[in-house]
Amino acid sequence: MAGAVRRVRDLTRAHSTRFERAIPLIASENLLSPYAKELLISDLHSRYAEGLPGERYYEGNEQVDEIEELTLALARRLFRCSFADVRPISGTVANLAVLKALAEPGELVGTARLADGAHISSAAFGAFGLRGVRPVYYAWDPERMTIDVGRTREILRAVRPKLCLFGLSLFLFPLPIDELRPTLEEIGALGWYDGAHVLGLIAGGEFQDPLHEGCSVLSASTHKTLPGPQHGILLGETAEPTVRQRLQSAAFPGVTSNHHLHAMAALAVSLAEHLEFGREYARQTVANARALGQALHDRGFDVLAPELGFTRSHTIAVRVVREGGGAEAAQRLAAAGIISNKNLLPGDRSPKQPGGVRLGTPEVTRLGMGPKEMAVIAELFDELLHQGRPVAEVAAKAAALKRGFTTLRYCFGAGEAAYRYYDLVGREPDA
Ligand SMILES: Cc1ncc(COP(=O)(O)O)c(C=O)c1O
Repeated sequence: MAGAVRRVRDLTRAHSTRFERAIPLIASENLLSPYAKELLISDLHSRYAEGLPGERYYEGNEQVDEIEELTLALARRLFRCSFADVRPISGTVANLAVLKALAEPGELVGTARLADGAHISSAAFGAFGLRGVRPVYYAWDPERMTIDVGRTREILRAVRPKLCLFGLSLFLFPLPIDELRPTLEEIGALGWYDGAHVLGLIAGGEFQDPLHEGCSVLSASTHKTLPGPQHGILLGETAEPTVRQRLQSAAFPGVTSNHHLHAMAALAVSLAEHLEFGREYARQTVANARALGQALHDRGFDVLAPELGFTRSHTIAVRVVREGGGAEAAQRLAAAGIISNKNLLPGDRSPKQPGGVRLGTPEVTRLGMGPKEMAVIAELFDELLHQGRPVAEVAAKAAALKRGFTTLRYCFGAGEAAYRYYDLVGREPDA
């Protein structure tokens, strides 16, 4: 079995090296700071702490309680809100907690469609289906990549869902919560924001502020534009005490037992770092996304929403039907060391043939890239997908660009190697 141990270590090292040399453009990924990363391999990983601080089911939780209190306080401060729960272990788990707390099986919940950018949580085969709730789809404006307010008001008034989810995986522009708020109040629906993608932008003051625009609860992952550990979070501002209690008991014992204490401690570090560096990081992330959109547009790519500056977030969407479709384009880019993902876009005929690629700037920004590098990346796209230059040639240029950007920014310990493999054992398993 030592061979298996060696193999998995070798593969992990190879993975780290591959990403160290790649241009990482996945909108949902980011890099941890060294101070957050070291906590992931602490003893916290071995422990259980069910319940809330001071009300645990296991002994030995004194330090954990203090860490959790500190994480909650940092979260409330960063998001300027009065309620936080850091026990959901991912964004999907946080969504399940919201559904368990605020909707009963068979009830109607408003959402965007998957093809308009919603996450699979809203699908019958995802969290909605698991909870047995029925989706009510918002009308969509594909030009502006947002909800069509007028037509959606009519839909909401006609079917009166109990809960309305605002949040996307292809999240280019803020959603019109302010404008829909009177309708939600009129029909007695609660607003729920899934900020998995834009959490770090919200905290950095670069996107909308859903908890202060009319949403009672915000659920999210903590590892996309917020450069934290893979984990989840629930936040609230206007929620009544009963709503908070329902959210807390949905988080535990509803959708978690233990809540991954090592990740929670790492999250505390990431929240503290975002309080210090988040504004500048969020500003640069959005500026880079807009610069990348412009540079690709200038090179003849069909970047969505050109009249609106392509995006107000970390993400842009490029329709690549002329370039062979989303699957082929993403694969060719990956072969050249540019990592993205195929993505469904509004109007796509088949969910199996996504017409676009989704590109995000959280990771390249974290590594210190700016608009100049966005222009070089667009040039590589052009050479590969329009000019038909050999993959190896483009891959060499991508690797050369990346060589100057392999250390972390916007965190304590800035300048450390971003893709570092922690070889704590320091020897081979059979040695
Ligand atoms: C809008 C949205 N919500 C939830 C999730 C799920 O998050 P996680 O992967 O942390 O479960 C994602 C993941 O990409 C997402 O885009």
